[in-house]
Amino acid sequence: MKILSTKQIKKTDSLVFWASDKSVSKYLNKDQEKYLKRKIKEKKELVIIDMQGSFIFIVNIKQNNINKEKELYRNQAASVFSQLNKEQIKSLHIEAEHSDKEQVFAFLEGILLGSYSFTKYYSDESKNKTYLKNITVNSALTESNLLEVEALCRAVSFSRDLVNEPLSYLTAEQLGKEIKASGKKYNFNTEVLGKKQIEALKMGGLLAVNSGSFDPPTFSVLEWKPENPKNTRPIVIVGKGVVFDTGGVSLKPTAGSMDLMKSDMGGAAAVIGAMQAVADNKLNVHVIALVPATDNRPGNKAYVPQDIITMHDGTKVEVLNTDAEGRMILADALSYANKFNPELVIDLATLTGAAHAAIGEYGIVSMGNASNKQKSKLASSGDKVYERLVEFPFWEEYGELIKSDIADIKNLGGPVGGAITAGKFLEHFTKFPYIHLDIAGPAYISANNSYRTKGGTGVGVRLLYDFFKNY
Ligand code: BES
Ligand code: ZN
Ligand code: ZN
Repeated sequence: MKILSTKQIKKTDSLVFWASDKSVSKYLNKDQEKYLKRKIKEKKELVIIDMQGSFIFIVNIKQNNINKEKELYRNQAASVFSQLNKEQIKSLHIEAEHSDKEQVFAFLEGILLGSYSFTKYYSDESKNKTYLKNITVNSALTESNLLEVEALCRAVSFSRDLVNEPLSYLTAEQLGKEIKASGKKYNFNTEVLGKKQIEALKMGGLLAVNSGSFDPPTFSVLEWKPENPKNTRPIVIVGKGVVFDTGGVSLKPTAGSMDLMKSDMGGAAAVIGAMQAVADNKLNVHVIALVPATDNRPGNKAYVPQDIITMHDGTKVEVLNTDAEGRMILADALSYANKFNPELVIDLATLTGAAHAAIGEYGIVSMGNASNKQKSKLASSGDKVYERLVEFPFWEEYGELIKSDIADIKNLGGPVGGAITAGKFLEHFTKFPYIHLDIAGPAYISANNSYRTKGGTGVGVRLLYDFFKNY
């Protein structure tokens, strides 16, 4: 899909305009105008006029809260897309000359993200096809604003693709290849470490989780370093890359709980997508992303409960449940991050069922020991892009719950606060200001929800991008 800036409307185009547009009569005849007035009175947020072969959409949104308003624009845009696509319409003009830049940006996000579909494995090419090819827009957005929204949505789509790929394609090694390809295309540095190098680094957590697998692990380092970045020390982002989570020998019960576990690399997909978006749009911040990756299986010499694992930083961990594998691989990545002397470390992970149970798919569970300023900056990005953060407590008492009788710490907490004890486990390994984001709820959804298409949602990409853009 290509977006061009123009004032010209072609007769054949479908058309979107804002109800606040004073020149309504330019686009509508008297009857249509009357109809529109009536619908506006009824407070309808999207008015559709069928022109037999094309459509006119009038967006009628009134909101005091700017963040909520932008989300409504994204939602309306996704409805516009699905209506057009049903009718196999190829081109759309958005007339928004007098609208706010941010409104139009959000509307374009809604169209681009709403048009996403994962069709790679359909034999029938007409299935779920995107017909809409050309979008023209008359607005205050510059050519570079348009390139930015396209690049950002391309990165979200890439992130969704990665989540939607099953293990039969996306092994840890393949994930490394995808990272390399993106780095080559968008000019950021990549280094993909293989099993030998991971062994040399003594990443005991990653190796333990991988020990039940046929496929080797990878550890990827991605770096975007502009010439004069705003930050003197890098920001490190870490993503959980469990390409499939069976639970290991603490096998997940089959009834349902394993059915979406190809998405257990949603954190990895988020940091990879964010890196691509940052590099594609050449943001002036120094960012390093770390992706520890493996599947979690009960085969071969799988690690078992009561094993004691020596981690990359030397910490000895008592394993009590092999299904708490995410924290094992993230811990090694977090201690590896210490060598960069980072200004801030953020990890994203589909880490706990507890986080999912607490708030569902509607937001991201966050916690950490970073400054209030850093935390509130990230939270405000979350509000803006509508990937909202809910902060959980991070009191030291929760740290008591992961103390082990036989080793330094254990990989399982008590019966309460499962999302928090997982976060506390991770905190043990980082020496720098830290924010943990548990995306177990929003990373993967089983039905379309507006512009969040079913399957991988790419959650985290727009959040991190906005955070870096405003850093
Ligand atoms: N990948 C899961 C968490 C998860 C659950 C993600 C549901 C998305 C949806 C994680 O590895 C896991 O199994 N966590 C366990 C931890 C427990 C054994 C301490 C959990 O949350 O049950
Ligand atoms: Zn697990
Ligand atoms: Zn997992």
